[in-house]
Amino acid sequence: MISIDIDIAQKFIDESELSLSRDKCENALLHLKNKTGPGSEWLGWRDLMKSPNDALLEEIDSLGRKIRKEADIFIVCGIGGSYLGAKAVIDALSPNFGNKGPEILYAGHHMGGKYLNELLDYITTPKADGSSKSVFVNVISKSGSTLETALSFRMIRQTLDEMYGDDSDHRIICTTSEEGGVLNTLIEEKKYRKFVIPDNVGGRFSVLTPVGLIPISVAGIDIKTLFYGAVSAYKKYESDPEEVLSYAAVRRTLHEKEITIDIFSCFEPELTSFGGWIQQLLGESEGKEGKGIFPAVAAFSTDLHSLGQFIQEGTRSLMETFLIVDSPTSSLKVNEMPGNHDNLNYLSGKSFHDINTKARIGTIQAHKDGNVPIIKITLERLSAETIGGLIYFFEFFTGVFVYSLDLNPFNQPGVEDYKKAMYRLLGKE
Ligand code: PA5
Repeated sequence: MISIDIDIAQKFIDESELSLSRDKCENALLHLKNKTGPGSEWLGWRDLMKSPNDALLEEIDSLGRKIRKEADIFIVCGIGGSYLGAKAVIDALSPNFGNKGPEILYAGHHMGGKYLNELLDYITTPKADGSSKSVFVNVISKSGSTLETALSFRMIRQTLDEMYGDDSDHRIICTTSEEGGVLNTLIEEKKYRKFVIPDNVGGRFSVLTPVGLIPISVAGIDIKTLFYGAVSAYKKYESDPEEVLSYAAVRRTLHEKEITIDIFSCFEPELTSFGGWIQQLLGESEGKEGKGIFPAVAAFSTDLHSLGQFIQEGTRSLMETFLIVDSPTSSLKVNEMPGNHDNLNYLSGKSFHDINTKARIGTIQAHKDGNVPIIKITLERLSAETIGGLIYFFEFFTGVFVYSLDLNPFNQPGVEDYKKAMYRLLGKE
């Protein structure tokens, strides 16, 4: 299902360095499994895999089907771990154009007034037949008080109240902690439908809870297959963690050798948002106490025409992790054209998958020659099952890797600093 190839990266390190890292990673794995490492109270994402909640999956699935039938627009209102996972899966598995079901919009993920203003204008503009758009919103915030999300939600809520009056309440679905936070006060007052984010699951590890599953289900993706794809990966790595350990050991050794940037590169544009999810998962988990490899994302071949030059010849402090999809994602082929005026007939009969694959193999060769350590992570095909597996794989990898750096993977103390400074400037008491 998922395979990891560390051969190229391994050429940049020697055996003794690797074996030291390997010991550290094995120890990290034990801490993760035995819940003896720092932040072990946030290992609930592993418990979810041990005992899947089928009733909850069914409840979310039927809510998703209902909203798909009733909504023209579905707004996902959240930031960081409260929306990146859903966006990653939706972008990976939905058609690029003309998806059936509601249009999915994102809000609460920044404080751009122009964007929010235009979003509110857009949802209130009647349809071509003069009727109002049917809008639903899912506000997602574990703390229930994140400013970006809370502020956007306030504006959207006011707009829905104006549009639908009392009928607006059933259009609002809240995903938050069991208790605490301003959102829970609002839920109690307005009796909004509520889904719970388990206390022992941190934001960036929460895509397989209602946080990610509700939007993913509204997008028409089979959440049971997604979830059980993750469960299969969990079972596989519980009995045989070798691939995760060797990947973590190589990456850790590169970290010791002062590799400071890891570029997650992909030749399937559908996986660019998945790179964004990995970026947050790893970035917030490993970037602490002066340690960590900065996770960046490159969408190829687009970014070969921007970042490509730097990767090939710039400062040699980077590594690259390729996310590869083995089976074709489409059967589109190049046709023969009479006259061959564009000189492209040499590609006639070839599929875009073949051409993209050659571009990838050529790029890997060139970057290797440019002294970039490379890791390849290959998905057999792009499906709900394999994406579920890839989610668990990266969560598990993150836990092992970050423990191997002697850090707590599950907190994010640095995120609080900007909030304190911002609230002071805004005059919050
Ligand atoms: O991973 C995390 O914990 C963070 O990225 C949070 O998801 C993000 O800050 C949003 O927090 P909240 O869900 O409390 O609004």
